[in-house]
Amino acid sequence: MTSIGILGAGRVGTNLAAKLAAAGHQVTIGGRDVSESAARVAGLDPRIAVADQRTIARTADIVINATPGESSLDRLTDLRADLAGKIVIDVSNATRDAADGLPGDLCYPGGSLGEKLQAALPDTHVVKTLNTMLFMVMTAPETLATPPTVYVSGDDENAKKTVIGLLGDLGWKPGWVEDLGDITTARATEAMILVVPHVLRRNGFTPFAVSLAR
Ligand SMILES: NC(=O)c1ccc[n+]([C@@H]2O[C@H](COP(=O)([O-])OP(=O)(O)OC[C@H]3O[C@@H](n4cnc5c(N)ncnc54)[C@H](OP(=O)(O)O)[C@@H]3O)[C@@H](O)[C@H]2O)c1
Repeated sequence: MTSIGILGAGRVGTNLAAKLAAAGHQVTIGGRDVSESAARVAGLDPRIAVADQRTIARTADIVINATPGESSLDRLTDLRADLAGKIVIDVSNATRDAADGLPGDLCYPGGSLGEKLQAALPDTHVVKTLNTMLFMVMTAPETLATPPTVYVSGDDENAKKTVIGLLGDLGWKPGWVEDLGDITTARATEAMILVVPHVLRRNGFTPFAVSLAR
């Protein structure tokens, strides 16, 4: 059992919280407002705890960033001391919205939020993963007709090993996990978001993952 904190109690955060709690982990989650977050997880697994984001960063062993990517760098930099010595799993996408509210341009073209987080949090192991699919696929990859891919980017091999273990708890088979290398490889998977709004406009929110076919 691992103590997992989730920053962000939206679609991604609550979905991950339910599956990780069901897998036996000790999960704490929080959006901007604790009572609002409590309402969002009511009816999910009763073992899921709710706290403010600084408390989560301070007390959890592994912290998942499931907040808006465009403002994540400032938010997590502010939590630098609390996150020291921990793994941060960044599942966010840092984009500016298009006119219809779907992801438009990248905030960090030629780089990535993953790299910026790692540079801002030198005492933390940042691992980028799960940002290349709709949220429901993160916890139910086996429901897709085609075997999907989940990419992993990070500098620390042990941290990635731990994260890949958690991916297994979410339902990801070892053959579906693509460890791309160090955190600079996050710029490739973060750029994959550029295909997503076009797919959504054509097909709606039908579950999919941007995957490798072999
Ligand atoms: N939705 C997807 O299918 C999907 C797939 C892959 C990656 N992602 C990425 O995952 C992240 C979360 O997506 P989502 O769909 O779950 O978004 P969401 O439903 O809008 O939830 C975002 C969460 O972040 C919190 N938040 C917003 N602004 C904040 C701030 N300034 N400080 C602290 N917390 C803040 C929100 O707080 P409140 O609770 O107060 O509203 C909410 O709990 C995004 O970076 C997104 O790009 C999403």
